[in-house]
Amino acid sequence: MIRPVILTGVRANNDIHIGNYFGAILPIVDMAKKHADEYDINLFIPDLHSFTTPIDHSQLYGSIMNNARVYAAAGLPLDDESIYLYRQSYVSAHSELTVILNNFVGFGEMERMTQFKDKSRKASRALTQGDAAEGTDGPARDRVSVGLFDYPVLMAADILLYNSTYVPVGDDQTQHLEITRDIAERMNRKFGNLFVVPKPVSEQHQFFGNEQGLRIKDLINPAKKMSKSDESGKGVIFLNDEPQAAYKKVMSATTDSLARINYDKENQPGIANLLEILALVRQDAGLDITLADIVDEFSGRERYGDFKKIVASEVADFLSRFQSRLAKIDDVAILAKLASSEAAMNIIANETLRRVQIAVGLRKDEDEA
Ligand code: ADP
Ligand code: TRP
Repeated sequence: MIRPVILTGVRANNDIHIGNYFGAILPIVDMAKKHADEYDINLFIPDLHSFTTPIDHSQLYGSIMNNARVYAAAGLPLDDESIYLYRQSYVSAHSELTVILNNFVGFGEMERMTQFKDKSRKASRALTQGDAAEGTDGPARDRVSVGLFDYPVLMAADILLYNSTYVPVGDDQTQHLEITRDIAERMNRKFGNLFVVPKPVSEQHQFFGNEQGLRIKDLINPAKKMSKSDESGKGVIFLNDEPQAAYKKVMSATTDSLARINYDKENQPGIANLLEILALVRQDAGLDITLADIVDEFSGRERYGDFKKIVASEVADFLSRFQSRLAKIDDVAILAKLASSEAAMNIIANETLRRVQIAVGLRKDEDEA
């Protein structure tokens, strides 16, 4: 029997921080464990998407492998045969389908993608260091890559190749999911039923329980989310930070002058953020605890310094634990998992590609010949 497919990916990077970990990687691993009985879980590393924004290519291969290890250290059961872990570029149908789909998507549609607008603006600003970069043409714009522009079409190929039904993504990616649905419906109308159309965003949220709201904030500037693109890195806790360095970062976290702990995101965003982080690291330590329990425990206390020491040392403990889990991950097992998943995925993806090639007239359907 063909099982329905849940598919998702997180872009490979070397600087995974606790926001990425608790906000994306861990929920994906939990989701995979929860649904693997009924669904095939396609978890992939979108390595071809990695260089749509500038990266250090000499580090890419290492980052890809590191991402796979992080999943394992986060508890992904590598021996579960319903869970596939694979690299996008090891299944060449992703690239081939993208080239075909490109011809069924409009330039204007792609130009309206907000991620493209944001990232191309940032890229052109970086290239000209601020001046004259706001415009939509000129030399800086010339260097915004076509890869960035085409990002959503590659993402559509990632999804459609495997007949995916559910695709958990963060809010910033929902527009890409919608365009994937548009492309699939458009091609289905033109060529008959070629693709499984993934569920609309509202049904995705229903299915996954809309748990995508978690946003860990920057420790120094709790008005913005923790992000690897922060220049100083002082407000960001990376998974590979020395535990002692992370301890210091927490101790330097911005709080407020109210001198009384409350979970009030509006008026006390720094304190609220530390309460959330503490709940997450305690959960990682195996405690059956919620944010509400933490809020109960600390509400009304007046000594921020003491509270920070608790958070700092539990964050440091979390990093020590995580880093020792990561060090124990066996690369041979990772490579074996990747190889077996990629072999299985190539078969499925090539079937879809073949169907599309026949539909668009590139191949002949031998059954009909
Ligand atoms: P970054 O901002 O560090 O570049 P990305 O945009 O590459 O992170 O996001 C990768 C994944 O991590 C996404 O699923 C995103 O929703 C999640 N994520 C990123 N930052 C945070 C954060 N501060 N809190 C929770 N989740 C986050
Ligand atoms: N764009 C996603 C991100 O930035 C990664 C991604 C690429 C993806 N292709 C996908 C996610 C297909 C889900 C489905 O995190």
